[in-house]
Amino acid sequence: QKNIILDYGGPNIGKPLHVGHLRSLNIGRSLYNINKLVGNKVTSDIHLGDWGMPIAQIISYMNIHKIDSENITIDELEKIYPLSSSLYNDDDEFKESALQINKKLNKRDKEVIQQWSVIRKVSLKSISQALEILGHKFDLILGESDVNYLIPEMLESLLKKKRITEDSGAYIACLNTDPKILITKSDGSYLYLTTDLATVINRKDKNFDTVLYIVDKRQSFHFKQLFQCIDYFEFDDAVFQHIAFGTVNDYLGNPFKTREGGTKKLIDLFDETKEYVKDVNKKLSDSTVNKLANTILTFSDLITNRKTDYKFDLEKFSNISGKTGIYVQYALVRAKKLLHKSKLKQTKEFYTTKLDEKDLNLIYSLMKFEIYLGRALNNSEPHHLADYLYELSNLYNSMYQSDNILENNDQEITINKLLITSYFIDYSTLLMESLGIFPVDEM
Ligand code: ARG
Repeated sequence: QKNIILDYGGPNIGKPLHVGHLRSLNIGRSLYNINKLVGNKVTSDIHLGDWGMPIAQIISYMNIHKIDSENITIDELEKIYPLSSSLYNDDDEFKESALQINKKLNKRDKEVIQQWSVIRKVSLKSISQALEILGHKFDLILGESDVNYLIPEMLESLLKKKRITEDSGAYIACLNTDPKILITKSDGSYLYLTTDLATVINRKDKNFDTVLYIVDKRQSFHFKQLFQCIDYFEFDDAVFQHIAFGTVNDYLGNPFKTREGGTKKLIDLFDETKEYVKDVNKKLSDSTVNKLANTILTFSDLITNRKTDYKFDLEKFSNISGKTGIYVQYALVRAKKLLHKSKLKQTKEFYTTKLDEKDLNLIYSLMKFEIYLGRALNNSEPHHLADYLYELSNLYNSMYQSDNILENNDQEITINKLLITSYFIDYSTLLMESLGIFPVDEM
């Protein structure tokens, strides 16, 4: 039994949950469920970006524009974020003021901390609401702000151990790498890497033996440096892995944007998907529509090899006869309905001489569960299970369609097929659960 922490999600406060978070959430949740299924101890941590420059920029903007931070709303906050970050890049005076605020934040200046805590609260509330709709739960909602206080001590001890050294005001690791690994900036401020190192220290007392970071592949270099440092600084001998993934683009292959050019909120993508599902089938209950919308957002994501980019094509991903989440849900609903309708008593044994080719195909496929589970687990690749779920559903459908199961003249054949149906239901449900998909009861 392993003791694993999964670091995924990683939204930044002040910003909404956006489409860029979709894959981390899907893959993270699935790896959590898969590891739990095989008996590993799992802990999920959302690792919020809730400290440092981005927050200082927001506070600085609010101060300059005399915006009442006590009563700030999420809509205002989400507007301020892009404005303040572009000001930071273009306006030296603004930049200076944000740097001052950041210093105060790190010194835990009372007023700035108060502003920070309101921003964090308002933002976290909106992020939590979105996560709930999307069916995500986390064991730990920790973030950068929870480890920041560990940094000065960490740097001091690294200096003492001669693992870092000063280089024109900055600290760099005493490692022979090209480029040098920067631990702090020359103005003394901390980097993404600094915080991630402190997070490793903070997690140490939980004795995790595996740490999985489910983060965009564009951060590969960051994680390479992080892992080199953990090793060289002798921080922890657990297995550290970057579970990298590619980008989701819109159906044309362009980055997801709002009409105004901002980043597209994940909840807007969910709403659009939900509307689409509702349009196609107006009789479904709201809870079913929600589950189906989530199924579309999850299945299409997980069936793609995580390392490749893909285009989010709603029409394609909701096609009931395609390789989709809707297809696998439909097969399961169908199977459950069939069992429900049959009045035959369930037996536990097949009439083996009466199994036809379609029955056998499905039975053989059911026996491959462990192979696919093993692949998904060992490579941290949920797509093996998504592919497999599709394969099973497909074989089930072809068995189902070849015969009017309940009205067969030979009752033993009916019993065979009902027994296969009940196996299919169990496996399909289990696979959906490992993928983070919630089975529906109607369609
Ligand atoms: N907040 C980061 C981002 O938006 C992701 C955090 C991933 N986790 C980590 N421990 N670095 O890019």
